[in-house]
Amino acid sequence: MSERKHPIPGRLPTADNWRFLRQWLRNPLTVAAVTPSSRQLARRMVSELPDDARRVIELGGGTGVFTRAILERGIAPADLMVLELNEELARLLRERFEGARVVCGDARELPQLAAQNGYLDDGPADAVISGLGLLSMARPTQREILRAAFDSMRPEGRMIQFTYGPVSPVPRSLLDDLELNVRRSAFAWWNMPPATVYVFTRRRSRGIAPVKVRPPRP
Ligand SMILES: C[S@@+](CC[C@H](N)C(=O)[O-])C[C@H]1O[C@@H](n2cnc3c(N)ncnc32)[C@H](O)[C@@H]1O
Repeated sequence: MSERKHPIPGRLPTADNWRFLRQWLRNPLTVAAVTPSSRQLARRMVSELPDDARRVIELGGGTGVFTRAILERGIAPADLMVLELNEELARLLRERFEGARVVCGDARELPQLAAQNGYLDDGPADAVISGLGLLSMARPTQREILRAAFDSMRPEGRMIQFTYGPVSPVPRSLLDDLELNVRRSAFAWWNMPPATVYVFTRRRSRGIAPVKVRPPRP
C-alpha cells in the first residue's frame, strides 16, 4: 500500500479528528459526521467487496479510513478511484495515498469524472464503497448518486454503504424505481455512532418460465 506522509496507526490520530470536525463545522450538510469512521466499520465495509473485486471506486473519502482499508485488502492504488467533494480533504487524500486516483468532485457526476481522468479506460468498476451521508440527503440527490454509481459499475457490481439509522438509508420506493435490491450486512458497534452496512445490487431480470403447450387434437 502506498501511504506516504501521514501513516495512520491503529487508532486515528487526534489531528484527523480535529481536521474532520473543522470541515464538519464549515460544511455540516455534506460532511455529515463529526468524526471519521472507525477502523471496525472500515473492515466491515471492505469485507463486502466480492472476492474477485479488482477495481473499486470510493465516494466521500474524508480522511481516508476506508481508503486505507481498501488498499490493505489488496486493491492496487491504480485500480482505486477516490472521489471527495471537499477540497482540503481531497488534498489530504492525495498526499496520503500516492498512486490512487483522488478526484475532487461531486459523486453525482461520477461517470463523467471517472471517464475524464481515465479510470474507465480499463472498464467499469467492480464495486463502489460509499462513505457519503446518504441518509441525510434529499431523495433526488440519493437517486442521482445511486444512478451515477451503478452507471460506473459492471452489471453485477455492488454499492456498499453504511448508515447510522435503523433501516436502509434508501427508501423502498426509490429502490423500486431504480430496480435495485438492498441487503443488510454487518453492524459496527465501535463506531461513533454505531453504524450498519448495507449492500445494493441491481435486480436481475427474471427469466420467463417456459409454458408447456399441448399439441392440438387431430
Ligand atoms: C460522513 S463523511 C465520511 C468520510 C469517510 N469516508 C469516513 O468514513 O470517515 C462524508 C464525506 O463525503 C464527502 N461528500 C459529501 N457529499 C459528497 C459528494 N456529493 N461527492 C463527493 N463527496 C462528498 C464529505 O466531504 C465527507 O468527506
